[in-house]
Amino acid sequence: MLNPELVERAVEMLRRGGVIALPTETVYGLAANAEDELAVRRVFAIKGRPATHPLIVHLPGAEHLSSWAREVPDSARLLAAAFWPGPLTLVLPRTPRATDAVTGGQDTVALRVPAHPVALAVLQRLGGGVAAPSANRFGRVSPTTAEHVRQDLGADVDLVLDGGPCAVGVESTIVDLSSGAPAILRPGGLAAEDVERVLGHAVPVRAVSKVRVSGSLASHYAPRAGVVLAEPHEAAARVAALRARGLRVGVLGPQGLTLPDDVPRFDVPAEPAAAARVLYTRLREADARGHDVLVACLPAASGLGVAVRDRLSRAAAPRDG
Ligand code: TXA
Ligand code: MG
Repeated sequence: MLNPELVERAVEMLRRGGVIALPTETVYGLAANAEDELAVRRVFAIKGRPATHPLIVHLPGAEHLSSWAREVPDSARLLAAAFWPGPLTLVLPRTPRATDAVTGGQDTVALRVPAHPVALAVLQRLGGGVAAPSANRFGRVSPTTAEHVRQDLGADVDLVLDGGPCAVGVESTIVDLSSGAPAILRPGGLAAEDVERVLGHAVPVRAVSKVRVSGSLASHYAPRAGVVLAEPHEAAARVAALRARGLRVGVLGPQGLTLPDDVPRFDVPAEPAAAARVLYTRLREADARGHDVLVACLPAASGLGVAVRDRLSRAAAPRDG
């Protein structure tokens, strides 16, 4: 899977201002050299994302932290040592290396070291930072395979590196360490319990923050079909009620639900990490079948279940267009 020639081509493209799709352990990223403002602007244009929404800068290793963050508190060092490379993003006060194009003009920058071998090889070879949002059009479901990226972005990207299906399946957990007490800005692929264990105290989720987190917009991660949330024991009744209204209904949920034979079920296991891994693929599969409504069963609200519930809730939120 790690093809040195492709890695070399990718690095060349990044150096020349290209935009490539890069596999990470969470989701595929739409990557540009973080210090090339024109390339970064192209990322926003391809995604259709407002230029004020900041991007995550991906680094080859924790030793690069202090060239991007002007203050690196002990909490950041502890978390980086424990979880990098991995699905954790740290928000810290920026150095001038993090430009306005990347940070949306904020005084902070989001940093992470991804755990995917292809991403790490590209970053190490480049020797610098790569700005990469998820490689989907703004507001749509994040890609967890190279094929998802091709379907979404097609010829708009210069190169799609195929690193196989993402092992984690949901975006990184974002922890704000830039001021005051640490807070989780986005639940994700690293469980809050793990962050808290390393820091030795509770870390609250700060849902509405003064910073712009596009993943926190209510209607983010939206498939085309409507999404209705259900605890597993409620699913059958929800399905019956929706079908009584003449709607074509599909179910996202675990085995063992009692459903009518002609209602398709897209398997999202009850175990949270397994659910996270397949969530976006199942949302896409279900969506492609043209259902009017998807009844989505919620996993338990612990571990990665918090991130899965968060994404499903956003998929279910009303859209403003
Ligand atoms: O797992 C991930 O994090 C993936 C992979 C590709 O690394 N990336 C990802 O990027 O999810 P994106 O752009 O879709 O989401 C990045 C989030 C956004 O919600 C953005 O607002 C937030 O990070 N963010 C970036 N810089 C920030 C900052 N300085 N302060 C607070 N939030 C920030
Ligand atoms: Mg995204």
